[in-house]
Amino acid sequence: MKILVTGIAGFIGSHVAEAYLAAGHHVVGLDTFSSGAAGNVPAGVRVHRVDIRQPRLLEAVLAAERPDVVNHHAADADVSQITRRPRRGLEVNLTGTLNLLESCARQGVGKLIFISSAAVYGNPRYLPVDERHPFDPTNVYGMSKAAGEMLVRIYAATAGLRCTSLRYANVYGPRQQARAEGGVVASFLYALRRGESPRITWDGEQTRDFVYVGDLARANVAALERGDGGAYNLGTGVPTSINQLLRAVSEAVGVWRDPVYVPKRPGDIRASYFDCRLAEQELGWRAETSLQEGLRALAAATAAPTDRAR
Ligand SMILES: NC(=O)c1ccc[n+]([C@@H]2O[C@H](COP(=O)([O-])OP(=O)(O)OC[C@H]3O[C@@H](n4cnc5c(N)ncnc54)[C@H](O)[C@@H]3O)[C@@H](O)[C@H]2O)c1
Repeated sequence: MKILVTGIAGFIGSHVAEAYLAAGHHVVGLDTFSSGAAGNVPAGVRVHRVDIRQPRLLEAVLAAERPDVVNHHAADADVSQITRRPRRGLEVNLTGTLNLLESCARQGVGKLIFISSAAVYGNPRYLPVDERHPFDPTNVYGMSKAAGEMLVRIYAATAGLRCTSLRYANVYGPRQQARAEGGVVASFLYALRRGESPRITWDGEQTRDFVYVGDLARANVAALERGDGGAYNLGTGVPTSINQLLRAVSEAVGVWRDPVYVPKRPGDIRASYFDCRLAEQELGWRAETSLQEGLRALAAATAAPTDRAR
């Protein structure tokens, strides 16, 4: 199968591209390298430096590549940046998705895999959050993902395009940048390694569902053949408080620093974790990596030469 991955130079898109290659697929990419890095792209993969906000250039890429599937990871995923610049965030996350849908329909792409987020649910009304939970985002980022999902579903049905939305919990793993959505693991790791105090917003007792990037890469492989018309929560189903997370990251790197607590941000959510049974039933997927295993893998993959020698 030929797959075009948007956002291939980013944290998660690059892992998904690797998983597709490992499964024997032909992968091409599209990215602006605005938050991604050329070094993240798997060796030998052709990447078009095109912005999804430019419909004509986007269409030219799809016409030239003729992929069977488009996997759409490109987004403005920096929540505080979108909060400051909502117009740009909506242009990338929503209008960019519309541009992609229109080009996919015109160029006869078979399937679009849209990447969504736990942010669509906002402050959960019940836990664990399943896919029937209403959309109630508390920030423009979550709103852009909720609207993107709805656009994909409506447009795909009328254009005869198969689609699946994957709603990620908080993702962590190698190549993550501290500032992106869910970047708390990376921010703790880099702070501890630099000998700085990790920053925790609020009192650190807020919980999240931390899922390892390698597990999500497998879900993207499953979604090539399964889950048409569906939207799936992808997490571990395990709540972890930010204070617990800091202790776990600290164990993985073998360094402890007392955190500095800073005030919560508007829209911050108290508790969130997923019910992932639908993904298990319909995609045949479940997270297999425990937080401790994932953090050990992350620490090993990002170890400085001096850390490795210890
Ligand atoms: N990291 C998380 O915890 C998390 C959680 C839920 C959902 N997501 C979603 O997963 C996807 C990937 O996130 P990530 O953490 O890898 O972020 P990332 O910033 O590392 O990756 C995004 C990629 O998209 C590219 N990009 C940005 N704007 C573009 C544009 N206009 N045109 C083309 N390319 C563009 C960037 O250069 C980057 O390579 C995003 O859709 C994000 O919303 C991430």
